Amino acid sequence: MANQSEEHQFLARESPEDLQVARTEGSFLFDDKGKQYVDFMMGWCVGNFGWGNAVLLEAAAQFEGPDYVYPGYSYAPWVELASLLVSISPGSLKKCFRATGGSEAVDLALQAAMLHTGRSKFVSVEGSYHGNTIGGLSVGSSESREDCKNLLSRCYKVKPPLNAKSLARVEALLKGRDVAAFIMEPISINLGVLIPEPEFMTGLAALCRQYGTLLIMDEVATGFGRTGTLFASEQFAIEPDIICVAKAITGGLGGMGAMIATTPVAKSMEDKGHFYSTYGWHPRSVAVAIAALGYIARNNQRLLKDVAATSDYCRQRLMEMRFKKPASCRIAGLAIGVDFGDESHAAKVQAKCRREGLLVANEGESLLLLPALNIDQATAAQGLDILERCV
Ligand SMILES: Cc1ncc(COP(=O)(O)O)c(C=O)c1O
Repeated sequence: MANQSEEHQFLARESPEDLQVARTEGSFLFDDKGKQYVDFMMGWCVGNFGWGNAVLLEAAAQFEGPDYVYPGYSYAPWVELASLLVSISPGSLKKCFRATGGSEAVDLALQAAMLHTGRSKFVSVEGSYHGNTIGGLSVGSSESREDCKNLLSRCYKVKPPLNAKSLARVEALLKGRDVAAFIMEPISINLGVLIPEPEFMTGLAALCRQYGTLLIMDEVATGFGRTGTLFASEQFAIEPDIICVAKAITGGLGGMGAMIATTPVAKSMEDKGHFYSTYGWHPRSVAVAIAALGYIARNNQRLLKDVAATSDYCRQRLMEMRFKKPASCRIAGLAIGVDFGDESHAAKVQAKCRREGLLVANEGESLLLLPALNIDQATAAQGLDILERCV
């Protein structure tokens, strides 16, 4: 068992929390002292189908190799997974590019947008998170620029709220016809479940089309049912040119990401791009991802119905809670943001929940509840009871 000073000496961690994970099961996590937590965090949208999901575990157990496939060779399960992803992707997305995770998928998307349009500017939402590469940080929160001095230049940000009024600012940025892409999470989990107004999304898509800017939807966190539809993009009248997925695609049993593009964008990337990825779509992860997509296909209706029912239940419970500090709730399926308008209070509540046996995420002034999509009502109630005692 790693002791804390050893860990501090040898291993770097971002936002380190003092929780030693021993095992996980369904919607529960157990620490090294045997303490049980209700998990309303699920690794930040990784464990959408519950930890230890039998279908995914079985696929991992049945996997018999190959150990590895060199990117230049072909491998039939890659094609199977790519065609499955295309078949469930929103709009006209037709081709997949392999990646090891969300950051790489986002970087591929930025590269594809530059190559396809011949432009280099990007626009994104202020305060957002799109991964930890130089490209991802460049289109993420402007705060990163204070420490990292050589991020991509010519990246512009639109401040929330994302409503019809903010379209004028978007148009001012796009009308020079030199912006390669607008990138955003369709519902921003990283901004405490920020739900754009439908008028913003429709207007944004129209402006992108008018000025030749690609629309990239980062579905790394929202993908695979989190917000009540398979992809959050489906909730708006938009047709993205690219989506990025990762996280829940393997339910935690393997690292994987994908950039999925329309035919013309994919062609530009294939002609001129660089997308060699040594561990992109490792065979073991591919076996699990195919099983996960099969699980989704077989259970899609029930899964999304469960999300809607649990989401309603959470909404009801949150409405009835008596908060010490007033809070506003933003709910999209099982992406639930509880905004206190106060960072230190949100952090205190998160810490209290943990002491009481509930894991929630804390993003700025908000708490984030991201339970498994198939959590049973008794466990959801158990978690919400703890939350109620802590707010
Ligand atoms: C919206 C979004 N994009 C990209 C990433 C980066 O994904 P990864 O950590 O798999 O590189 C994250 C990770 O949290 C994310 O939430």
